[in-house]
Amino acid sequence: MEKEKNRHLFSGSVGFVLAAAGSAVGLGNIWRFPYLAAKDGGGLFLVIYLILALTFGFTLLTTEIAIGRKTKQSPLTAYGKLKEKWKFLGVLACLVPVIIMPYYCVIGGWVVKYLLAYLTGDGGNAASDGYFTGYITGTTEPLVFMMVFLLVVAVIIFRGVNHGIESFSKILMPLLLLMVVGIAVFSLTISATDETGATRTGLEGFLIYVVPSFEGLTLKGFFTVLLDAMGQLFFSLSVAMGIMITYGSYVKDDANLVRSINQIEIFDTAVAFLAGVMIIPAVFTFMGREGMEASGPSLMFVSLPKVFSHMGKTGGFIGALFFAMVLFAALTSAVSVMEAVVSSFMDQFHMSRVKATVLETVIALAGGLLVCLGYNKLYFDIELPNGAHAQILDIMDYISNNCLMPLVAIGTCILIGWIVKPRTIIDEVEKTGCRFGRRQLYIIMIRYAAPVLLVILLLKSIGILTVI
Ligand code: PHE
Repeated sequence: MEKEKNRHLFSGSVGFVLAAAGSAVGLGNIWRFPYLAAKDGGGLFLVIYLILALTFGFTLLTTEIAIGRKTKQSPLTAYGKLKEKWKFLGVLACLVPVIIMPYYCVIGGWVVKYLLAYLTGDGGNAASDGYFTGYITGTTEPLVFMMVFLLVVAVIIFRGVNHGIESFSKILMPLLLLMVVGIAVFSLTISATDETGATRTGLEGFLIYVVPSFEGLTLKGFFTVLLDAMGQLFFSLSVAMGIMITYGSYVKDDANLVRSINQIEIFDTAVAFLAGVMIIPAVFTFMGREGMEASGPSLMFVSLPKVFSHMGKTGGFIGALFFAMVLFAALTSAVSVMEAVVSSFMDQFHMSRVKATVLETVIALAGGLLVCLGYNKLYFDIELPNGAHAQILDIMDYISNNCLMPLVAIGTCILIGWIVKPRTIIDEVEKTGCRFGRRQLYIIMIRYAAPVLLVILLLKSIGILTVI
């Protein structure tokens, strides 16, 4: 009891919303959302994503934040507090950020490297063929930059909920939004003529992004769009990895959860949409439709530097701005991942914040080292059950995102929908007097729709369901 009273809380809803949005807005918004939208019929994907955000996403996000605030515990102990026998789900939920943290730091290190390249006027070099592969297979630099990234995150966590996470998010998130809007507006104004004499403009690229395309759409194609949107949303909201439970446990009892949850979703979706406005027109203008086929690291570290190099002198500046923005997005996400682990250690083992932070830093460091070695001394290439080629980083990503996260989410739906009952969550949300607007929808989603969708997602992620 004493411990709960001492638990630090976000000072207000602005701090909470920005910290949670900081977690949600991450690499996925930037390197995957625009790619999926371009691939899946532009506006069609956007509409489906939006509908899912208001139903599926809203259900999962509300559930986790309410579990956190109700139990005042981090994931490792929260599930057990709701239902003793379900403690194992907390262990699984806590395992996800433990696995994610090391490789997120390695990617964060790559972002630091590219930012420095652009800041020192070396952006042209970063666009050359083989630069990225040459860099990540190096033995020292990727390690050093991974450590720099990890250290910054650890310092923020060490400073605690208010002086660390909250104040940091309050500065970085508004800045990030400003940068994304700035680059997006710039992207809409560009145009270029290629060697064949064809001129393409940013505005044309924008239309490809937002106008729904039903061309050649089959039922199977529609399911692909639906599952792509669902998988993306699921990852984007930072659910099923204990993060939102942790942040929810720092929310004051008199805060209006409904409003905050809406704001978090709007922030995350707006940044994902704007990332598309920023990236698709630029890639289309300088590389045509083929350029839009890249996603993930190859989009961010290979294609985009080439796009920047086509922009001439402005490209150096835009590149620096872009990677600074990505760094902010990655930092606030990594902070949330580490906090989920650190708070779990604190609650479970009654450790001090300092000790828990040091312990998690050491674990992340060891894991990060392994990930870096996966590109040189420990290099191998295996095929995952879903057909993707993988090194150590991809294997960790596969286990956490494709296997554990859907499992944790399915477990959470069963626990809340059928064992402790949706009322628990509804009462928690309504205890401050605010109305739970989509109550019926919530009950249907958590009991039936969400688990079914999640099982389909899991089967597809692990390569069992290949028809869609
Ligand atoms: N939600 C983040 C995104 O969309 C990703 C993330 C992953 C955040 C892992 C925290 C932890 O990119």
